[in-house]
Amino acid sequence: MKYEIIVLAAGQGKRMKAGRNKQFLTIQNVPLIIHTLQKFEQDPWCSGIALVVNEKEVEIFEELLIEYPIQKVQSLTVGGDERQHSVYNGLKSLKQAQMVLIHDGARPFVQQNTIHELVEKAASDKAAVLAVPVKDTIKRVEQGTVIETVERSSLWAIQTPQAFLFDVVMDAHEKAKTNEYLGTDDASLVEKAGQKVSIVEGNYDNIKLTTPEDLLYAEAILTKLNRTE
Ligand code: CTP
Ligand code: MG
Repeated sequence: MKYEIIVLAAGQGKRMKAGRNKQFLTIQNVPLIIHTLQKFEQDPWCSGIALVVNEKEVEIFEELLIEYPIQKVQSLTVGGDERQHSVYNGLKSLKQAQMVLIHDGARPFVQQNTIHELVEKAASDKAAVLAVPVKDTIKRVEQGTVIETVERSSLWAIQTPQAFLFDVVMDAHEKAKTNEYLGTDDASLVEKAGQKVSIVEGNYDNIKLTTPEDLLYAEAILTKLNRTE
């Protein structure tokens, strides 16, 4: 089943403290964003990639794509100040899409079988996200005091890609814009619009490189994946 994907790379990577956008940091000598794009370049179900970048970095990404050609990136889309605005610009740049996936450029380790499971779930349920069971005990805290311990069995950590029928996610973004609602992921906008979102159990390897120690984890995960592929 075919899909188009929005890959987000327009952030600043502040928490990575690398002094530049984390998308350009290398894992085993290949830039992070290239690892991510190659996953979709290699997936026969993916028919196109909308790569969303900061307007100040358009040329840097263009040069990178000359060094590492990704055929499915037809053009670059300029992002916005918030992730949600970057996604919205990405959605507007898609023309034919029926099934759309939204993915963090900083998550290079998502596996093809998982992507396919997600797409099939979204085809039947209209909206689906990858998630893994939370491992830690989670407590709600206010001013340094525990308020409650949340029942862990119902807690899932949500990842990307997230997959939606195009009309469902576009409608949710339009509504969020009208209501000035800012969510931390796209599914939350879809939920707000009254659409059920299904879960597909993903993999703990599908990390988002966020803080400096994640680079060490990423090297280890890539070594493991290269051994088993
Ligand atoms: N992103 C984006 N546009 C924004 C903000 C984020 O396209 N305005 C992208 C990032 O490039 C990243 C993904 O969304 O691939 C997930 O965001 P996050 O991990 O928070 O990355 P950054 O925003 O770059 O990092 P930080 O929050 O630490 O500054
Ligand atoms: Mg961010």
